[in-house]
Amino acid sequence: MIKFITSNEHKFQEISRKLENSGFSIEWIKLTYEEIQADDTSEISADSAKKLSTHINDPFFLEDTGLYIDSLNGFPGPYSSFVSKKIGNPGILKLLDGKDRTARFITVITYCEDKKFHQFTGILEGSISKETKGSGGFGFDPIFIPKGFDRTLAEISTDEKNSISHRTLALNQLILFLSERDD
Ligand code: IMP
Repeated sequence: MIKFITSNEHKFQEISRKLENSGFSIEWIKLTYEEIQADDTSEISADSAKKLSTHINDPFFLEDTGLYIDSLNGFPGPYSSFVSKKIGNPGILKLLDGKDRTARFITVITYCEDKKFHQFTGILEGSISKETKGSGGFGFDPIFIPKGFDRTLAEISTDEKNSISHRTLALNQLILFLSERDD
């Protein structure tokens, strides 16, 4: 049994479906934890995992995701949660008026077992739409168009999002790591 620590139900739904389909049992630990402020998501995620490992003995993982916009020098990146709460998707659309819209999601998963930490990264390339579109997904999904698509992540099904997403790409590496280790 692997514990997944997140307060975000959408993340739990996306991740549990994939892990269970791959034969792993997952337990949701619905917990909000303090994160350090840093420019590097891997550093933030590693710091959170180290702090949590002093309370949790079983294998666990957490994941951090950021939206990186090229013409804003990678902003909001590690500040995505703050920016989403403060200005939301309409605020991001305003910031991008007349600018290049290339962007990517980056997910970092930190897995902890026996006080050892392993990180896995997934990247989804795409662009920011001109307007919010779709009612599925969460967060920045209504303004993010994956490369090769003409719809936002909020306009496609969860299964379709899961087949291409930053979160799935990071998770695939975790699954590979767990499978090879169990051999
Ligand atoms: P965090 O990883 O929970 O800190 O997420 C940072 C911000 O990115 C939050 O505002 C989330 O809503 C948003 N976010 C995280 N994952 C996704 C995703 O898969 N799609 C859209 N927005 C996301």
